Amino acid sequence: MTTRAIIRGSGSALPQRCVTNAEMAQMVDTTDEWIIERTGIRQRYIAGEGETTSTLATEAARRALAAAGIEASKVDLIVLATATPDQTFPATATIVQHNLGCNGGIAFDVAAVCSGFLYALATADSMIRTGMAKCALVIGAETFSKILDWDDRTTCVLFGDGAGAIVLEAQDVDENDPKAPGVIASRLHADGAHNELLYVDGGVSTTGTIGKVRMKGREVFRHAVTNLANVLREVLETSGHDAAEIDWVVPHQANFRILDATARKLDLPAEKVVVTVDRHANTSAASVPLAFDVAVRDGRIKKGDLVMFEAMGGGFTWGASLARI
Ligand code: UT7
Repeated sequence: MTTRAIIRGSGSALPQRCVTNAEMAQMVDTTDEWIIERTGIRQRYIAGEGETTSTLATEAARRALAAAGIEASKVDLIVLATATPDQTFPATATIVQHNLGCNGGIAFDVAAVCSGFLYALATADSMIRTGMAKCALVIGAETFSKILDWDDRTTCVLFGDGAGAIVLEAQDVDENDPKAPGVIASRLHADGAHNELLYVDGGVSTTGTIGKVRMKGREVFRHAVTNLANVLREVLETSGHDAAEIDWVVPHQANFRILDATARKLDLPAEKVVVTVDRHANTSAASVPLAFDVAVRDGRIKKGDLVMFEAMGGGFTWGASLARI
């Protein structure tokens, strides 16, 4: 027997305001056609007054706990992935912990931008496996709209706000059973050589400002497909599972063309790829748990399914994780 982190439930939250491509075209020199053709995005949600990274994260966490049928008081670990925290410090995870009323356990943020949820998931999984925690909330939450340059059409049309969360619980399983539930294997990577391709041009210890997102999209695109295909193969090899066994891929939702090209590289049929980029746009660390929650709630992802999560983002950072639901 071995201890694994089992995914007990998921939840998500979006801001109230939905902004269509047509509305974006009134703000910058773009068109609905260009955005759909190049990215697959049709709309995004943008946080309004009173909606922050912690409020969205708290709502997503509450829904995940309700879906899992687990009381907040049982949560002894919160790992929250974000690049847009409420405050420089303390960690947004501690604000969520207090909102949920489960003070006293471990709570911290991870900063890996769009791969943040994969970094958070692998961290929480490791802490559960080693006995540091028994019940974890893994959250990806962003208000990326706050760091967008709304005059830069090459970036502002791509991103949105939102939050997604899952509940992980420790359970002893038979490690020789290929159908045993839980997180099976994860792989994470970073390559700091590409800072200038995707970054925010401000920060606490440099400019003293929050800064805005800057991206050389075409170059990021090229790296994304190669890195993602490689890390997916790595996780499959580590886990001993074959690509053909995967029931669902839940990718980071940056661009439909990236997730399509990555799936093709592994011969994964398009019907097995969960796509929400059309309705949420790129919500950075929130995109994977948001997409997962959509596919669980609409009945596509079911108990027993083998699910691959993957993401790539600023840093560069990238990673993948395979789990049996
Ligand atoms: O989540 C973190 C990881 N991020 C990503 O994975 C993003 C990766 N990159 C991408 O998704 C794509 O590269 C973009 C969607 C950002 C851009 O698509 P692209 O096909 O690579 O376009 P491009 O950057 O090569 O630009 C093509 C043209 C340019 O015009 P010229 O130079 O050919 O005259 C751009 O100026 O499209 C122009 N353009 C736009 N036109 C209308 C750029 N943004 C827009 C826009 N509307 N919003």
